[in-house]
Amino acid sequence: MASANMVGAIVLLMEIIALVSGVRFQLGANGLSMEYYMMSCPFAEPIVKNTVNAALQSDPTLAAGLVRMHFHDCFIQGCDASILIDSTKGNTAEKDSPANLSLRGYKIIDDAKEQLEEQCPGVVSCADILAMAARDAVFFAGGPVYDIPKGRKDGRRSKIEDTFNLPSPFLNSSELVRMFGQHGFTAQEMVALSGAHTLGVTHCASFKNRLKNFDSTHDVDPTLDSGFASALSKTCSAGDNAEQPFDSSRNSFDNDYYNALQRKSGVLVSDQTLYSSPQTRSFVNAYAMNQAMFFFHFQQAMLKMSLLDVKQASQGEVRQTCRVINT
Ligand SMILES: *[C@@H]1O[C@H](CO)[C@@H](O)[C@H](O)[C@H]1NC(C)=O
Ligand SMILES: *[C@@H]1O[C@H](CO)[C@@H](O)[C@H](O)[C@H]1NC(C)=O
Repeated sequence: MASANMVGAIVLLMEIIALVSGVRFQLGANGLSMEYYMMSCPFAEPIVKNTVNAALQSDPTLAAGLVRMHFHDCFIQGCDASILIDSTKGNTAEKDSPANLSLRGYKIIDDAKEQLEEQCPGVVSCADILAMAARDAVFFAGGPVYDIPKGRKDGRRSKIEDTFNLPSPFLNSSELVRMFGQHGFTAQEMVALSGAHTLGVTHCASFKNRLKNFDSTHDVDPTLDSGFASALSKTCSAGDNAEQPFDSSRNSFDNDYYNALQRKSGVLVSDQTLYSSPQTRSFVNAYAMNQAMFFFHFQQAMLKMSLLDVKQASQGEVRQTCRVINT
């Protein structure tokens, strides 16, 4: 309990700092700003923070779910909460794509939205709630603390066919650089964002191709450490859905992920390729050596991601319920 109080006190302190520093932030060209809800819903930030904190206290594995959900949201149609929409009779939504396998934490967003609707009905968008929740999840898992502008509006489209644009776990470094480049990210930013894999797990189905009949000349992926390959095979003996953490501390936000890549113990092809490829290896080495640098670059890249194709007032709405487009 003492530690919960501590976290509460820190959250409060952060709010004060954010409020004070927000005053000098200029309204951006995209209509977003740090103090967007200062008048209309002053407790928006603490409500989301406390909801995320409470949820992570009972299930710390949800941090990874929230970060991943925000990423999936922003990469498809921009950060417009399209990932939160439930399928209906006539429409299969993004969240029902096979790519959604490890998306978790929808209930946290619903909880926060419910409280916000009570305090300030129709004001805080689901896209902002998700962006704040992902940011807070990183912090509560031990990662960097940073402020993000608010004012995103919620989109009115969510279709399963749009999700083919998500990066697959089988991509190599040059494919990743190209794909993230289409969203305006540099190779270094892509490597920093990949560090989100410091949280969470993947499933055997996403890496079993590396363990058997890998290609015409190798049975096992040659970029994979042989001891680690045995560990992965053991995981897969429980089936395609068996969970495998990306690094040794699945609920702590740290730079251990990059250390694992240096040991040839990256789980996915799309992880290990960052070290195997000369194009990106120097970034992996830098982040493995310097966690503070990783944290700083990660927060900058997350901020940039949170602004991808954001919808302004005329292009979107504030949903009443995050799972349903307003009628
Ligand atoms: C993910 O998609 C599958 C279908 O591919 C669906 O059965 C499942 O309910 C979805 N999961 C979530 C959390 O929406
Ligand atoms: C990555 O994959 C693409 C297409 O599959 C291939 O053309 C390219 O040579 C690969 N790059 C590396 C560095 O292996």
